[in-house]
Amino acid sequence: MRIGVLTSGGDAPGLNAVIRGAVLNGERQYGLDFIGIRDGWRGLVDADFQQLERSDVKGIGKMGGTILGSSRTNPFEGNGGIDRINQVMSDAKMDALLVIGGEGTLAAANRLAEAGIKIVGVPKTVDNDLSATDYTFGFDTAVNIATDAMDRLRTTGDSHHRCMVAEVMGRHVGWIALHSGMAAGAHAILIPERKTSLDEIVGWVQSAASRGRAPLVVVAEGFLLNTMDDAHSERGLDAFGRPRLGGIGEQLAPLIEQATGIETRATTLGHIQRGGTPSAFDRVLATRFGMNAARIISEEGWGQMVALRGTDIVTTPFEAALGQLKQVPMDRWDEAALLFG
Ligand code: F6P
Repeated sequence: MRIGVLTSGGDAPGLNAVIRGAVLNGERQYGLDFIGIRDGWRGLVDADFQQLERSDVKGIGKMGGTILGSSRTNPFEGNGGIDRINQVMSDAKMDALLVIGGEGTLAAANRLAEAGIKIVGVPKTVDNDLSATDYTFGFDTAVNIATDAMDRLRTTGDSHHRCMVAEVMGRHVGWIALHSGMAAGAHAILIPERKTSLDEIVGWVQSAASRGRAPLVVVAEGFLLNTMDDAHSERGLDAFGRPRLGGIGEQLAPLIEQATGIETRATTLGHIQRGGTPSAFDRVLATRFGMNAARIISEEGWGQMVALRGTDIVTTPFEAALGQLKQVPMDRWDEAALLFG
């Protein structure tokens, strides 16, 4: 069987380890051939391919980014659509697809699978917001990068007796904020799942400052004050028409400064959280995802994807990844909040 591989949506550290795991295991154990599709669905619709053999994946498990490139292209828009994709696959003698992506990508994969295209998926998101899997690769790396940044913000905050606001990724969910904030000993963690008032935030900041600490406030990009209806966005829309988030930390800093009289500075970590070398945890998870995706292909388990349950890699239908987002449960935030202030 000849398998087209694509990575789609926002990148995540570990994508290359998935590709390597699939190609090595697929070739060796199951006699599969692979062909790389450039820049996600865009490359499939445009028939833009690259060689993807064992020699092409050597040493890439530790590399960030994706050797195939990625995009947020919708395969049903423009020249795309099921007929076009069937034609491209048939011309390229491609029997099936291995699609590595987040919720939007898996939704598109599900639609194509329902139309009879042979597809297997691997879930991906640094936000860790897919309910079908306990963890996605990239999340651990993002949390480690954010924690390191916060440790650094705390030392400079201490020197200047400032309040430091650290903004992390997390469009709909606050997993990166919760984990990195707890790891760094933040005095407040603000997540999209829990609207919070400025008074509450100010209370935590003042409490920390009263003990001589330089307050650290961690905020997820999708956080809303209780006075807001939508997450803060000032950078227009992405290719899927979703608001580009980022900047809530800069909005909060002057409000905190005004209310407390403590000089307050904001830092937005942004794409630094998605770049660079994946952690060992993410390399292992991504490699196992790739290896098991090759196994599912060999079993012709179309319309399914790999997922992590506990420490086991399991197989689950695409729909399981799509319905509900995996939000931070309120008892997890309440637990963290016991240490705020
Ligand atoms: O979905 C992962 C994510 O990093 C979100 O946290 C963030 O809102 C979004 O992607 C940013 O996407 P882009 O890189 O396209 O701006």
